[in-house]
Amino acid sequence: MDSDDVRGDLAEVLLTEQRIHERIAELCREIEARDAEASDGTPLLLVGVLKGAVMVMADLARELRIPVQMDWMAVSSYGSSTRSSGVVRILKDLDTELAGRRVLIVEDILDSGLTLSWLVENLRSRGPASVEVCTLLRKPEAVKIRVDVQYCGFDIPNAFVIGYGLDYAERYRNLRDVAVLAPHVYQ
Ligand code: XMP
Ligand code: MG
Repeated sequence: MDSDDVRGDLAEVLLTEQRIHERIAELCREIEARDAEASDGTPLLLVGVLKGAVMVMADLARELRIPVQMDWMAVSSYGSSTRSSGVVRILKDLDTELAGRRVLIVEDILDSGLTLSWLVENLRSRGPASVEVCTLLRKPEAVKIRVDVQYCGFDIPNAFVIGYGLDYAERYRNLRDVAVLAPHVYQ
């Protein structure tokens, strides 16, 4: 779905599909370079966080020129639909044992940081060789807990965004661009 298809629901298109793809390619070159240094023979394990990270995972994994494995977690942070609370519950756990593995968490967005900081600690407790974070989007003004991010696509303003996997009430995930939702949609 293109921005024109939902023009009235959008306040502003922040990132076009093309811009996103160009940035993901740049991130992949960085990930490959680091992988070449750190590699121990086992493929890098990409851990996608459902459901928002589906698009970034699909594009990142296919752009990478190194072998990877993919696994998925689903977590819910209790709170309203536009704010997370930091109380995190696992809805779907990984199928993969992490002992000794190099793990790269693939996220759509780092907002307050509450979800990701919990996730990093949770995965670290399983004995991996390393846990790193790749997030397409980050809202520097919204940060409540510091999270070390090794790969960040874009720093964006503190507004609720949708598209490229990100939803409002499960809608707009299939929008190709990332856009700011118009306030009339949720007010
Ligand atoms: P925190 O605040 O814990 O948020 O860093 C992480 C999760 O909250 C969701 N989130 C958003 N989803 N537009 C969305 O569609 C947004 O602007 C937004 N901000 C946070 C998202 O699931 C993220 O993983
Ligand atoms: Mg998410």
